[in-house]
Amino acid sequence: MILCVNLEIIQRIRDVRDPLTLEVPDNFLTDINRFNFESVAVVALDHEFGLIRKNPDSMEARQLFDNLTAFIKCLYDLGIKPSLYKYIRTPTYRRFEKISDTIFDLTNRYANEAIARMQQNPCKEGEERSVLEKLIKIDRKIAIIMAMDMLMAGVDTTSSALSAVLLCIAKNPEKQHKLREELLKVLPHRDDHFTIENMKHLPYLRACIKESLRTYPISFGNMRETGADLALSGYRVPKGTRVFINSNLLLSEEKFFPRSREFLPERWLRQQDDMTGGDEKLIADNLSKFIFLPFGFGPRSCVGKRIVELELEMSLGNVVRHFEIEFNYHSEKPFANHLLNTPQIPLKFKFTDVNY
Ligand code: HEM
Repeated sequence: MILCVNLEIIQRIRDVRDPLTLEVPDNFLTDINRFNFESVAVVALDHEFGLIRKNPDSMEARQLFDNLTAFIKCLYDLGIKPSLYKYIRTPTYRRFEKISDTIFDLTNRYANEAIARMQQNPCKEGEERSVLEKLIKIDRKIAIIMAMDMLMAGVDTTSSALSAVLLCIAKNPEKQHKLREELLKVLPHRDDHFTIENMKHLPYLRACIKESLRTYPISFGNMRETGADLALSGYRVPKGTRVFINSNLLLSEEKFFPRSREFLPERWLRQQDDMTGGDEKLIADNLSKFIFLPFGFGPRSCVGKRIVELELEMSLGNVVRHFEIEFNYHSEKPFANHLLNTPQIPLKFKFTDVNY
C-alpha cells in the first residue's frame, strides 16, 4: 500500500509542475505533506484516503489532515512558547482540546471500521494482518492511542525529512547522478518496483538519507529525566532533572564530521560499499552513538523509524529514478524551528523527466 501511495507522487509532480519551466509551485510542501499523511494513514488507520490525486477534495481526509497540522502548531504555542494554559484555559488551549477531540473521533471511526472488517473477514492462516488490526487484537484502546500518536508524530517529521533530502540532492548534482546510477543498476526498467530483496542493494540511497538527516536534523534533540543522581562534566545533576541532549550541534562539528558543511553521503558507507573507492576519513573514529540520534534512543525511541526509512527510501528512490531534480534558488537557511525543523522557503524544485 505504501508503494501505491508512493507512485502517486510521481504523477502528482507531473500534474502540478509548470509545463514550460518544469518547476512545481511555491506551495509544493503541501503536496509533500499530503503524500506523507497518506503514507502514515495507510499504516496507522489501515485506510487509503486518496488525498494526493484520487480524492483530493474528500471532506473527511481534509478534516483530519487540517486538524493534524493545527495540532502541531498548538503544541508549539503551548509547549514551547510561554503560555498560561497550566493556570487558565487559554483560547489556544481550548482550540487544542477541540482539535484533539476531532482527531480522536476520526481515529475511533477508522478503528471501528477495522474491527468490523476483522469480524466480517477473519484472517486466514498465514495471512498478514495490518498494523491497526494487530494492535486492536491486543487492546482496542492502545490501538487508537497508537494510531493517533503515529499521525501526530509521523506526518510533519517525514515531510521535513523528505524536503531536506530532496534539497540536498537537488543542490548536489554529482551525488544525485551517483544515486541514479545505483538505482538504475538495481531497477533498470521503468516499471520495476522496489522489493524487500532489491532494497538490500541500495547503500548509497540509505547514505544520502542519513547524510541529509545530519545536514538538516528534524528534531531539536532528545529530552530525558535523569533516573539517578549523576555527575556530568563536573556538575552534579540530581535525580529527576529534565535534561536536553542537543546532539544536533555536534552534527556540524569538524572533529566528528570532517568537511561537515558539505553533503557527503560517502561518509556513511563502509569501504566495500563506497563506489568512489575513497579512503579519506569523513567520520571520526569511534564516534559516540549518542551524537547522531535522528530517531532518539532506547525504549522510547521513534516507533516509526522503520516506516520512515522505508518511506523515504522508496520516495527518494522513485523521484530520482523518474526525474532530474534542480533547485535554482537561494537555500541558505531553508529550515526554521517550530518544535520541529520545518521548511521556511518555497520548495520550487524543477523536475525534468529522465529518459531510460
Ligand atoms: C523523519 C521522520 C521522523 C523523525 C526524524 C522522528 C523522530 C523522532 C524522535 C527524535 C522521537 C523521540 C525519541 C526519543 O525521545 O528517544 C520520536 C518519537 C516518536 N515517533 Fe518519530 N520520527 C519520525 C517519523 C515518525 C513516524 C512516520 C511515526 C509513525 C508512523 C513516528 C512515530 C513516533 C512516536 C509514536 C513517537 C513517540 C514514542 C514514545 O514516546 O514512546 N515518527 N520520533
